[in-house]
Amino acid sequence: MSKGHLYVGLDIGSAEIRAVIAHEISSEEPLRVIGVGTASSLGMRRGIVVDTESVAKACNSALEQAERMAGHPIGNLVASVSGVEIVCQNALGVIAVGRADGEVSLDDMTRALEEVQARLVLPLNREIIHIVPRDYRLDDQKNIKDPVGLRGVRLEMNALVISGGAAHLKNISRGLEIAGANVESFVVEPLASAEAVLSSKQKELGTVLINIGGATTSLAVFEDGDLIHLAVLPVGGGHITNDIAIGLRTSIEVAEAIKLQFGSASPEDIGKKEEIDLSIFDSQEEDLVSRRHIAEIIEARLEEIFSFVNSELKNIGRAGLLPGGAVLTGGGALLPDATDLAKKTLRLPVQIGYPKPLGGILDQVDSPQFATVIGLLLFAQSNHLHKNSFSSDRLLGIVPESVYNGIKKVKRWLKQFLP
Ligand SMILES: Nc1ncnc2c1ncn2[C@@H]1O[C@H](COP(=O)(O)OP(=O)(O)OP(=O)(O)O)[C@@H](O)[C@H]1O
Ligand SMILES: [Mg+2]
Repeated sequence: MSKGHLYVGLDIGSAEIRAVIAHEISSEEPLRVIGVGTASSLGMRRGIVVDTESVAKACNSALEQAERMAGHPIGNLVASVSGVEIVCQNALGVIAVGRADGEVSLDDMTRALEEVQARLVLPLNREIIHIVPRDYRLDDQKNIKDPVGLRGVRLEMNALVISGGAAHLKNISRGLEIAGANVESFVVEPLASAEAVLSSKQKELGTVLINIGGATTSLAVFEDGDLIHLAVLPVGGGHITNDIAIGLRTSIEVAEAIKLQFGSASPEDIGKKEEIDLSIFDSQEEDLVSRRHIAEIIEARLEEIFSFVNSELKNIGRAGLLPGGAVLTGGGALLPDATDLAKKTLRLPVQIGYPKPLGGILDQVDSPQFATVIGLLLFAQSNHLHKNSFSSDRLLGIVPESVYNGIKKVKRWLKQFLP
């Protein structure tokens, strides 16, 4: 590569691993995708690593493919982290403004962030992944978005802290180390997906990103430009496949193929007499099955997924109240009529989220399934661009639109496993 910078994203999904390499010629131009690799996911259950060696093998295979296509060896990468152990909680950090004239500096912001981390008492089996500042209070003035340059005595940071199971994080790190990958940073899946598909306007208005993956559905809610909630639910597209397999008494492979080829979330739009011949998927099968019945099975499970999402929105007082609506990503978003079902269940406008346009070989990544890995690239680029602009290396990493990544912390526990 003659000039510019390379970024590598690795989405470690429960169904598939995706690696994408992108080239940045200049910061004014969109990234150009130059390498893509995918591999079936191995060694994960409910989005959690259960077999580190298998995870390493699958990651390696996706990375090697991408590397071959790009014709360039991979350096550092940014990886996704998901799984049912990811939770978010509110936290406060309070400091005395450092400068004698009371003007809030970038150094104060960094100290406030470190205070959030220091005050938070997490059980030993949990690790911080991100600290996301929401707003600040400077003496009596509340809801300040950017206090730098204002004057006061006491600065309070209100942040959302996202943490994950320590064992899971260690196992992913170990798997990536075995795969020979050098991880610069981790980003939780729904944040990465949101980065790839949501506009600043949607985040401002109030929008929920819903990523329907294989074993999990994750969501991130934004309002006034800030992340206000994030959750990972233990149900995804794989459960729909399992339901079809049980309902039709077929193998998982046949059920998956039926879902991909004939699936729909709207039974009422399917003729009562439409039938699918199972022998086209498996010569051992001879039954004809009703396509409407399959759609009923899909509708029931997908409705359950959206009602779980709605319960999360209810818990934060936003059910039916997000003017930017819901944006669906992940493989589950590709199910025909999933958007209509989401509209009905969530009582919100709903659309499918396609990744923001980049340059290069786009046809392979222009899908809601690639939202996470494209978001990782955008995070990596933004981190690189902002590295020297916001503050010192004491800060826990910089990511776009006031999302601050726990890089330093992650690096600290990563180091424990490096030779
Ligand atoms: N065209 C399609 N129609 C319906 N479902 C699909 C389609 N393509 C993929 N899926 C489903 O999407 C799911 C996988 O989605 P995705 O690749 O986003 O998951 P993942 O990122 O590997 O998993 P997770 O995010 O849970 O870790 C599978 O259940 C698959 O059957
Ligand atoms: Mg995923």
